Amino acid sequence: MLIRKPEDIPSSEITPEREYLNRRSFLKLAGGVGAIAAGGALVPRLLHGALVDDQPQADTPNSWDQITSYNNYYEFGTDKADPKANAQNFRTSPWSIEVGGLCNKPGHYHYEDLFKPASRVDRVYRLRCVEAWSMVIPWNGYVLADILKRFEPQPGAKYVKFTTLYDPQQMPGQRRPVLQWPYVEGLRMDEAMHPLTLLVTGLYGKPLPNQDGAPVRLVVPWKYGFKGIKAIVKIEFVDQQPMTTWMIAAPDEYGFYANVNPHVDHPRWTQAVERRIGEFRRRPTLMFNGYADQVASLYTGMDLRKYF
Ligand code: MTE
Repeated sequence: MLIRKPEDIPSSEITPEREYLNRRSFLKLAGGVGAIAAGGALVPRLLHGALVDDQPQADTPNSWDQITSYNNYYEFGTDKADPKANAQNFRTSPWSIEVGGLCNKPGHYHYEDLFKPASRVDRVYRLRCVEAWSMVIPWNGYVLADILKRFEPQPGAKYVKFTTLYDPQQMPGQRRPVLQWPYVEGLRMDEAMHPLTLLVTGLYGKPLPNQDGAPVRLVVPWKYGFKGIKAIVKIEFVDQQPMTTWMIAAPDEYGFYANVNPHVDHPRWTQAVERRIGEFRRRPTLMFNGYADQVASLYTGMDLRKYF
């Protein structure tokens, strides 16, 4: 199957974003404070020197333009506009994922064999970047647990390690030692098997644009955005916590857990507030990015200041 890019799709096939959102019955797993409806009096206050809205407004999805023009993807450059400018010719088909480590069904799996449209799910999730901005994104993807179960992880598998493609010819950022390449991320097994965790292949009902991580990227909505590794080519089941790219780059600043936590500041800035792209006033950041009801129990008894 050829993976079509938005520009390959005739405009007659493209549903306007608003209509798409109205039409599809998105599973809104907002939970907690995020469920507060819009319309309440918004009382701005000062927090950490920033003007902040006390009540988060309803979670209106960001526009296609915002989601696809303001990206972090260092393989294609370090400025927010670089990925869109530099990733347009990135080849996402054919694509396969190598599966290995502690599982009974290792091998090379073709994209089309892993991601069958019949089991696709549509979820509107908040994405909170460690840089203190956020967006609301209508993703299309697959529950990671359903994919991982097919590989029959063994009892010794405690973590899942994900690796991005290494191809400096196609990814100009990899020609410079900005990060240790290829980009690597990891999850504890129970985090990977949590029903909120997705492998994403699209947004707004269209194939995932290259700058957003085509053909397949991870999305873990209660963690900082850097956990959402793009262009995944390898999944490994391992018994030790893997070293991740950002831990190698700055271990004091980026932890393995990377749970969104307004009480644990980044050493160089506060994490108590965030700026939703498209808004002026900052919002208070919610514990676990607003998904505490669903995920807090994964961390019972853990000191989240130590395991940040
Ligand atoms: N994946 C790879 N391979 N390389 C990257 O530089 N950046 C991460 C994450 N995934 C990154 C990556 C960071 S820091 C964030 S905030 C999210 O992607 C941003 O996703 P978005 O551009 O789709 O909003």
